[in-house]
Amino acid sequence: MHVSVFSTKPYDRRFLDAANAAAGHRLSYLEAHLSIDTASLAEGADAVCVFVNDEVNGDVLASLASKGVRLVALRAAGFNNVDLEAARHQGITVTRVPAYSPHAVAEHTIALMLTLNRKIHRAYNRVREGNFALEGLLGFDIAGRTAGVVGTGRTGEVVCRILTGFGCTVLAHDPQPNAACAEMGVRYVPLEELLSLSDIVTLHCPLTPATRHLINARSLQRMKHNVMLINTSRGAVIDTRAVLQGLKDGTIGHLGLDVYEEEADLFFEDLSQRFIGDDVFARLLTFPNVLITGHQAFFTEEALTNIAETTIGNITAFERTGQTVHEISIEKIAR
Ligand code: NAI
Repeated sequence: MHVSVFSTKPYDRRFLDAANAAAGHRLSYLEAHLSIDTASLAEGADAVCVFVNDEVNGDVLASLASKGVRLVALRAAGFNNVDLEAARHQGITVTRVPAYSPHAVAEHTIALMLTLNRKIHRAYNRVREGNFALEGLLGFDIAGRTAGVVGTGRTGEVVCRILTGFGCTVLAHDPQPNAACAEMGVRYVPLEELLSLSDIVTLHCPLTPATRHLINARSLQRMKHNVMLINTSRGAVIDTRAVLQGLKDGTIGHLGLDVYEEEADLFFEDLSQRFIGDDVFARLLTFPNVLITGHQAFFTEEALTNIAETTIGNITAFERTGQTVHEISIEKIAR
């Protein structure tokens, strides 16, 4: 198949070329994000391959369909950027990579927790400047603390396992509880209870209408003073402005983000020669107890290998049979 691959970075090419060596699809690599302004670049392609910040809305899908595109292959697990209703209307199949490495995201989540708690980011800079003072670097024992995991699917389950290993009391909230978590001693509770009892709250649910701004001004009122909040799921699961206020009034003692509501204008690019025009993001960067990474939780050798192999597998299966096991549709998510 001829595939227009949007939002391509050099590492995407490396892993996709390796996975495609035997399959032999014609991959046209494009640096541009997919949007209504760039959809014309898919002229002549049978499929587009997209990432988390590509815009796959109704207008874009209509434009793609008019060019003969029949498949959108997401090289990601989350699909909140795709209008599935419009895809069905246009007769375009959508596939994703549901599981590539829950360990990658879970381990990055834990890295954010440990770094924030023990102020490793600050200690690193201090020591390089010959400042060996400990004032301001005081942390707490994670063992014995209560951690609340919101969403215990593939990633959340691994996070629960690691936190259980640390000796935490682990609470969880998920409309579909995971038996493996219950077996390891995780206790499922309503969200309000999780928020009010947890010293650490970590988010691992998808972004849906039900989870948009799940953490907001009201939910922050329920949380313990000085709570650690970690988000490696999707930016809009938290209301960033409310969280800013929570940082100012001390409700939030530590904030670790790998995702941000308005990340599409920032992440995955080198903007170091420019200024940051997003004042909310810029304000977040002024807090010593805020640690932000640019959507890199998935970024391991293993995950990129699995993403590329599953994506190419999805494209090959669609070419041969018109279907793929990793198809995502309105009907499937309603089940
Ligand atoms: P998953 O689909 O295996 O698990 C998601 C879990 O969230 C499910 O158990 C589901 O029942 C639960 N859930 C749904 N609605 C909920 C709600 N209202 N409250 C609590 N739980 C709810 O997904 P996985 O692989 O664990 O990934 C989770 C999310 O992490 C993805 O949807 C994606 O947005 C994000 N992600 C971020 C990455 C990064 O690099 N930062 C990489 C991969 C995924």
